[in-house]
Amino acid sequence: MPLHEPLKFAYWVPNVSGGLVVSTIEQRTSHDPAYNVEVAKAAERVGFEYALTQVRYLASYGADAQHESTSFSLALLLATERLKVIAAVHPFFWHPGVLAKFAATTQELTDNRLALNIVSGWFKNEATQLGVTWHEHDDRYKQSEEFIELLRGVWSEDGYSQSGDFFNATDITFRPQPKVAPELFQGGNSSAAQAMAGRVSDWYFMNGKSLAGAAQGVREVSALAAQNGRTVRFGLNGFALVRDTREEAEAVLEEIIAKADRTKVEGFGAAVQEAGNSTKDGKGMWADSEFRDLVQYNDGFRTGLVGTPDEVARRVLAYRLVGVDLLLLGFLHVKEEVEAFGELVIPRVRELEARLAAGEDLQLGAELDEAVVAATQPVPA
Ligand SMILES: Cc1cc2nc3c(=O)[nH]c(=O)nc-3n(C[C@H](O)[C@H](O)[C@H](O)COP(=O)(O)O)c2cc1C
Repeated sequence: MPLHEPLKFAYWVPNVSGGLVVSTIEQRTSHDPAYNVEVAKAAERVGFEYALTQVRYLASYGADAQHESTSFSLALLLATERLKVIAAVHPFFWHPGVLAKFAATTQELTDNRLALNIVSGWFKNEATQLGVTWHEHDDRYKQSEEFIELLRGVWSEDGYSQSGDFFNATDITFRPQPKVAPELFQGGNSSAAQAMAGRVSDWYFMNGKSLAGAAQGVREVSALAAQNGRTVRFGLNGFALVRDTREEAEAVLEEIIAKADRTKVEGFGAAVQEAGNSTKDGKGMWADSEFRDLVQYNDGFRTGLVGTPDEVARRVLAYRLVGVDLLLLGFLHVKEEVEAFGELVIPRVRELEARLAAGEDLQLGAELDEAVVAATQPVPA
């Protein structure tokens, strides 16, 4: 299969406390701004193209302190030269005109390196405790779509007007308009999430998945996008545990699970039922997550990036072959593991990509080869 572009790498910014797994295992990860600036600089040096700053407002499920995502992203952008930072935002907490203005200015300040992750939400208490209306699941996606429409309208048109169920604007001309509009990412597994991605998003983020699951997400959303004459790119979440031996990496994973903070994990599991699992088709994110999946907020263990640098690089390439364009990674000890991943795994992935591009019939290993073939088989009508 031809590879049109090299796989891109992103990492989760630890802008909330408690690290990226809900476990009492030691995590040498900090949510301090200074630590995060060091991570961002290291990440761009070793080959990460993006960072994702998550959005949380209230103490929740191990994240007792949270730094706001747009301001934190701007700080990281100003401290780096090439890294693109994706700031997560909830449409029910912002007026899109205000965010559009923030983004236009940020593009000027940062050489056009801001991106946005438009999140339609699962954490009802955050909205209701802050006095904001929590619409039903699919209505939140309608709200998000109007939000995106307004962002793009004021970024690109003079005298822009929009009248909708959630947001209105009349005769708006922004100066400056961004020379490069921020890329718009979006997650979610529900039918409403996928339909919105097909209609308006540049990127569709998936929770951690098997090769077959990722291939299915790519297929479904690509088909929806094609109905609208569009293409969408795909990001996949994964939690990477790269160690000298596979046994060592697997032992760390089992220790994370064994030391999971049960009360917090179960609380998170209950709260995410507000996601697409609450819809009629029950097809939302976390709908089939088990206890061990929920120890990493976005099912990251399911991607199985656990092993030696060589094993992980081959598995990463398998995901590229089933249509993943960007791998979003979480780590236990973020700074040291971002650096190690960049130094040990990314060069191996680049080497494998180069061999493929040269026409070599790459053997990723029987199990992976078979999984890639099975995942990319045409689906019977
Ligand atoms: C990679 C990724 C990152 C996300 N980041 C956030 C976040 O920072 N804050 C948040 O409230 N929701 C976040 N979400 C949640 C989604 O935007 C969405 O609300 C949730 O997946 C529910 O989807 P569904 O009900 O449509 O399946 C994220 C989802 C994904 C896949």
